Amino acid sequence: MAYAAFRSIGAYAPTRVLTNAELSTLVDTSDEWITKRTGIKERRIAAKNEFTSDLGMKAAQKALERSDVSVDDIDMVVCATISPDYFCMPSTAAIISTKLGIKGATAFDISAACTGFVYALSIAKAFIESGMKKNVLIIGAEKLSAITDYSDRGTCILFGDGAGSAVICATEDKSEAIIDIHTGADGEYADLLMTPNGGSGSSHDALADEASSCFMQMKGNETFKVAVKTLTKDVKEILADNNLTADKIVHFVPHQANLRIIKAVGDALKMKKEQVVLTVSKYGNTSGASIPMAINDIYESGNLKTGELMLLDAFGGGLTWGSALIPFAPKQ
Ligand code: ACO
Repeated sequence: MAYAAFRSIGAYAPTRVLTNAELSTLVDTSDEWITKRTGIKERRIAAKNEFTSDLGMKAAQKALERSDVSVDDIDMVVCATISPDYFCMPSTAAIISTKLGIKGATAFDISAACTGFVYALSIAKAFIESGMKKNVLIIGAEKLSAITDYSDRGTCILFGDGAGSAVICATEDKSEAIIDIHTGADGEYADLLMTPNGGSGSSHDALADEASSCFMQMKGNETFKVAVKTLTKDVKEILADNNLTADKIVHFVPHQANLRIIKAVGDALKMKKEQVVLTVSKYGNTSGASIPMAINDIYESGNLKTGELMLLDAFGGGLTWGSALIPFAPKQ
């Protein structure tokens, strides 16, 4: 039987830094408020001519360089994004494939907001285990600045741009295999976090109203409470299903939405400080890119070793959620 191994990680963060101090010149807020309520100090913003596909391509290049797989070996590309280059088509995954020189591989985007990377991972695992694909490139890439309303202090302080990517390959060695992935969704909570305009369900007349935006809207406080509950429940379930306890996890990689959410979940799960991966202070919430960017952070700081067990835990618009148990399995 073929198993799916998490071979490599890469990420890219745009160079422009948007600080809390700069945001406080745009909306009625302060560094003190943002730091205290979210733990975010700064976030990255892509240049005008830098698209989600450019961020994704740079992250994927790094992941490919760190794997033993060439672009010719990649047979599927999945991009998780809520800020695609183009509304509907072409997919950002297809654009990234071409920018990387990948020819003829299956390529498509998925929409699961901040849970997107975990969803993409589950798709890669399923295709590999079924024998349909061998080497899958997954990407979480977001230019959230393109869909953020910089006059809304409830959202603009949270989001940033960036991308992360991983190469997932078939292996016969069960000790390298991604152990388990849980994903779920509940559309009943759709209105907590949405981009109400621009789609077929939108109330505005797109032809008459050119200025109508696709900005994100969020009921922050309600989202916060559901996030803590869902993230905690999800981890408890995946650990129990696999007869594991929290102390066996070397790296707990939660979605980087808000330091207070991460702390509340970490405490509820009795995770030690050194188990919890944190990047929210420097990148803010980069939605589908947040988890792979955080994994890349521990990899680049030399703290992610072969065989170490990672637990991913995500939550986002939809609502969606997901968790994954993964040994890091680079090709030696
Ligand atoms: N600066 C100063 N004051 C502010 C700001 C701001 N940026 N934003 C809100 N406030 C004010 C509010 O107006 C309110 O004032 P009031 O008491 O006079 O009415 C007060 O601060 C408290 O507002 P709350 O909304 O209750 O603040 P809260 O502590 O909940 O923090 C936040 C808001 C940071 C948005 C938090 O709710 C949060 O992080 N929510 C979850 C976000 C999340 O996880 N999203 C899911 C994933 S994202 C995705 O899928 C793309």
